[in-house]
Amino acid sequence: MKIKIFILFVWAIVLFSNFTFQDSTYKAQSLKEAFKKDFAIGTALNSAQIEERNPRVNNLIVQQFNMATPENVMKSALLHPKWDTYDFTMADKLIAFGHKNNIKINGHTLIWHSQLPGFMRRIQSSDSVKTFFTDHIKTVASHFKGKVFSWDVVNEALNEDGTLRNSVFFQKLGENYVTEAFRLTQEASPNTELYYNDYNNEQPAKRAGCIRLIKKIQEAGVRIDGVGIQGHWHLGKIPFKDIEESILQYAALGIKVMITELDIEILPRNFQGAEVSQRMANNAESNPYPNGLPDEIQKQLADDYETLFKLFLKHKDKVTRVTFWGVNDGDSWLNNWPIRGRTNYPLLFDRNNQPKPAYFKVIGLKE
Ligand code: G3I
Repeated sequence: MKIKIFILFVWAIVLFSNFTFQDSTYKAQSLKEAFKKDFAIGTALNSAQIEERNPRVNNLIVQQFNMATPENVMKSALLHPKWDTYDFTMADKLIAFGHKNNIKINGHTLIWHSQLPGFMRRIQSSDSVKTFFTDHIKTVASHFKGKVFSWDVVNEALNEDGTLRNSVFFQKLGENYVTEAFRLTQEASPNTELYYNDYNNEQPAKRAGCIRLIKKIQEAGVRIDGVGIQGHWHLGKIPFKDIEESILQYAALGIKVMITELDIEILPRNFQGAEVSQRMANNAESNPYPNGLPDEIQKQLADDYETLFKLFLKHKDKVTRVTFWGVNDGDSWLNNWPIRGRTNYPLLFDRNNQPKPAYFKVIGLKE
């Protein structure tokens, strides 16, 4: 009996020291693994990535991310090219890609004033807009029922001062259209999480408008599960205080908070946010780093990302997902907006799919 107890004791010590050893030398191999107990880690995927055209990029996606948002292929211009025609080809490929690789899909986006089908520009009557709005939500949400984890039901409905944007939907359907979009999506896809998504909605005035919008949906007895703060921020100017205040205020509404389109702008820009219709003129100073990023900028990027992720970790009970808007620097939309053909460096992986110093700072928070 004594021998048995002794063996058990020795076995327990070996087991314990083994765990301790593993813990102290543990190195996470990926973002999704490092943060798996904290929040999901997502990326935006473009058509080439959905079609797995580059094996290196594909390996990186599968290794690093457990959620994905289509960068473009689920927007209405692409899904709904003609009044009575839908094309789900690329979006279905995304669903299959997610299924194969254990990556949950956030649908993006059902109702957005931008990237609308061409025929919408010719529509004048409120009845026709209403028909488009209803049919589009019902058809698309039903098609992806049980296939997407969540929907950005409405995207960017607010102005910077927190009032509702004067979009075609606001003009023709009135201010209740946002609530109505959530109601229709809930009916068509009852088990899917439903989110409102915007940029700059960590800024106080826009945040207040966003809170009013969310409360209005809730007061109508319609479900909203979360809010996306897009997170298109600028090097050295990240509004950490506003972000923290927003996480707290949104979570107090009883909903999840997500960072849905994270990137950090490195290049000169004279405005904040992600209003796609805004453009800037090209000049001699607008593309300062075509051949690589100076060390001090690389360091500041790493520091900014580290501070951001510290904040997200501090509020991991409220933040459920952090999604980067692109896989590597070469894919980023910021190479072509607000000026075409610049060389930008806003993400954690470089143009050769290699982790940057910012990656090591972020993942280092968990080691
Ligand atoms: O597909 C056409 C291609 O056929 C054509 O040859 C080419 C020439 O310009 O354009 C291609 O379409 C482009 C499309 O991206 C796919 O690459 C559009 O011009 C371009 O405007 C479009 O930009 C997208 C932008 O939304 C449009 O609104 C960006 O990729 C995408 O990253 C961006 O994503 C938005 C989010 O959905 C919402 N929040 C802001 C965010 C950044 O703007």
